[in-house]
Amino acid sequence: MAAALAPSVLSADFARLGEQVREVEAGGAGLIHVDVMDGHFVNNITLGPVVTAAIRKSTNLPLDCHLMIENPERYVDAFIDAGAEMISVHMEAARHLHGTVQAIRKRGAKAGVVLNPATPLSALHDILPDVDFVLLMSVNPGFGGQSLIRPVLDKARQLRALVDRDRLNCRIEIDGGVTEENLQEVASTGVDMIVSGSAIFGTDDIRATTERMVRMLAVMAEDRA
Ligand code: DX5
Ligand code: ZN
Repeated sequence: MAAALAPSVLSADFARLGEQVREVEAGGAGLIHVDVMDGHFVNNITLGPVVTAAIRKSTNLPLDCHLMIENPERYVDAFIDAGAEMISVHMEAARHLHGTVQAIRKRGAKAGVVLNPATPLSALHDILPDVDFVLLMSVNPGFGGQSLIRPVLDKARQLRALVDRDRLNCRIEIDGGVTEENLQEVASTGVDMIVSGSAIFGTDDIRATTERMVRMLAVMAEDRA
């Protein structure tokens, strides 16, 4: 199974958001990564449920809402009502993580937990059996266009081995600094979903860039089969 490409709309042109979301969908993206920031958990403010609902109307792809906000439990219902199929919350921000994961799943959405680059995999010990996916940050959260933090690739490989060994029903997503140049190396870690923002939306032909990256992932999966 090829890793799914998840374009992050943070790097899109917000004056043409619907149009550009349709371009990555046409290019074969598997899901739309929606970066939510509150100016407290990270030093940036982006979008909320209202814009998420507008994105929902622009695509049939699953919306993967990455909540970089304090006390994310307060907004789980609002993002699911806006059309999010996947909601990830930061281990570093969710004081009641188990309860928040249960609340997301109770609404029928997929629950994810996010680890910042310095948060160890061991922090997942008591929640891993309860989540649908883990999002590994390969940049420090807050902005697009940063360079990939390479030690996170080993973290991804270790998590892949752990999930496979324990036969957990948990997918792995990596987020930050992924480009056409490092995509093959990132995919070789065994992750299931790969976020990429500026490397897609920062190019002249968003659809063509998406198609090239999706094709690269498909060829890698065929070679592994
Ligand atoms: C950063 C976000 C990432 C970011 C990815 O806080 O969570 O999703 O937008 O953008 P690039 O691919 O440009 O690093
Ligand atoms: Zn993100």
